[in-house]
Amino acid sequence: MEIITTVEAMHQIIKQVKRQGKSIGLVPTMGALHDGHLELLRRAKSMCEVTVTSIFVNPTQFGPTEDFNHYPRDFDNDCAKAKSTGIDIIFHPAAAEMYPEGYATFVNVNGNITDKLCGLSRPGHFRGVATIVSKLFNIIQPDKAFFGQKDAQQVVVIKRMVEDLNMSTAIEIVPIVRAADGLALSSRNAYLSGEERNAALVLSRSLKLAEQAVKAGQRDFTQIRQLVVNEIGKEKLAGIDYVEIYHFPGLEPIEQLTDKALLALAVKIGKTRLIDNTILEAA
Ligand code: PAJ
Repeated sequence: MEIITTVEAMHQIIKQVKRQGKSIGLVPTMGALHDGHLELLRRAKSMCEVTVTSIFVNPTQFGPTEDFNHYPRDFDNDCAKAKSTGIDIIFHPAAAEMYPEGYATFVNVNGNITDKLCGLSRPGHFRGVATIVSKLFNIIQPDKAFFGQKDAQQVVVIKRMVEDLNMSTAIEIVPIVRAADGLALSSRNAYLSGEERNAALVLSRSLKLAEQAVKAGQRDFTQIRQLVVNEIGKEKLAGIDYVEIYHFPGLEPIEQLTDKALLALAVKIGKTRLIDNTILEAA
């Protein structure tokens, strides 16, 4: 496994791989790798001949009061975990390599996709995500790129960007990987104390309640949403950022479940903001 830190070195390798006619898979990450990330790496490895993961805590997707400085960074551990999946290359640039002085170009996905959920509570977040993912696609030129359903809105934004900007990378989605007790794996889980880790189970538990209600025939979003809000309300360490339901995958507002809808949560457990989601489907 090679570790590459400059755009120039990455370009040289990619040129060679393309000359050999091999397919390239990319898994963009911000590191602090857990089993969710590793599942993406394994998926990429099984579908592509040359597999690259990027490890880069992208400053442009963090708001001024967010956790950029504190975001968990453990590169040596990440390398060992990535290597265990058999991937070929880690791209690990410094911030100045990706955003050198004078940097001035950003990608904005506007409108109904980004004006809600995390786009609303984290202004500028998806501008940073779309920008860094475009840059990574230009540098690595992947045939396929792998993203987790854990960040459901991110997936919608990336797919929109790829279509709108005529990018030729295929986007592959990997289901949410959870701990045995239901908690969605996240690098930010590292912030949680034991008591908070326990309280955080309220996210997956409330999603399950909603799924059960739908299974029992509930189709009314106001009712489903209330069920989730009530369940989260019982957990004293939890504070709701949003509990919302939109048509999936277009994210249009709807009131009744007809086919597929995204139920998405952002909840603060103590100081840590966690997200989780499920796709509700009328049987
Ligand atoms: P990061 O949070 O490190 O996540 C990297 C990828 O892993 C994302 O596609 C995310 O959806 C996926 N992932 C995280 N937890 C997961 C889980 N429990 N199950 C399945 N997939 C999971 O998302 C980002 O980084 C950044 O925004 C990035 C796309 C790298 C741009 O900077």
